[in-house]
Amino acid sequence: MSARLVVLVSGAGTNLQALLDACADPAYGAKVVAVGADRPAIEGLARARRAGLPTFVAQVTDHPERSGWDAALTEAVAEHEPDLVVLAGFMKILGARFLDRFGDRTVNTHPALLPAFPGAHAVREALAYGVRVTGCTVHFVDGGVDTGPVIAQRAVPVLDGDDEETLHMRIKEVENPLFVETVGRLAREGWTLSDRRVRIGR
Ligand code: GRF
Repeated sequence: MSARLVVLVSGAGTNLQALLDACADPAYGAKVVAVGADRPAIEGLARARRAGLPTFVAQVTDHPERSGWDAALTEAVAEHEPDLVVLAGFMKILGARFLDRFGDRTVNTHPALLPAFPGAHAVREALAYGVRVTGCTVHFVDGGVDTGPVIAQRAVPVLDGDDEETLHMRIKEVENPLFVETVGRLAREGWTLSDRRVRIGR
């Protein structure tokens, strides 16, 4: 039986697209059952609609308190009964209620080698620091900013003449397949977590 994935996006959705393409093969072992976003009118949602998937939007600004947004997002995700919640370029910190419900099975992808350069401007900050190697990290989500247990990482060299756009593009070329491979393995093989160490397989 295929694992049920709910994917959350905030932008272009190239990681979502890579996942949708992989899910077309039943042997992948997972299927996207819904896509949610924190803002309307983004390419990520358009990709989901083109794939015929249900979508939902939960905007922070629709709620007087952030806790209201947290509750609404939790409810919208819960409706689709996910085995895994997958953050694919979702640019919001999840609330306590969400993590209470889904914190044991929420995965994020980040465009740097954590714990270096957490946060929303990882590519820009890696360039500004002058590192020669950066990369991407797939990790479980906890209450911090990109601080959860690491599941998989891959390195990407920084080239002379790189700017934020070219470097991020080359990171995504590595990130998209790592993300797909890692989510698929978690879905098919399960995992254990002990002292921050993640082992895929039961
Ligand atoms: C990815 O590089 C992800 O790591 C970062 O934002 C980017 C989202 O890209 N958080 P996309 O929307 O999947 O194309």
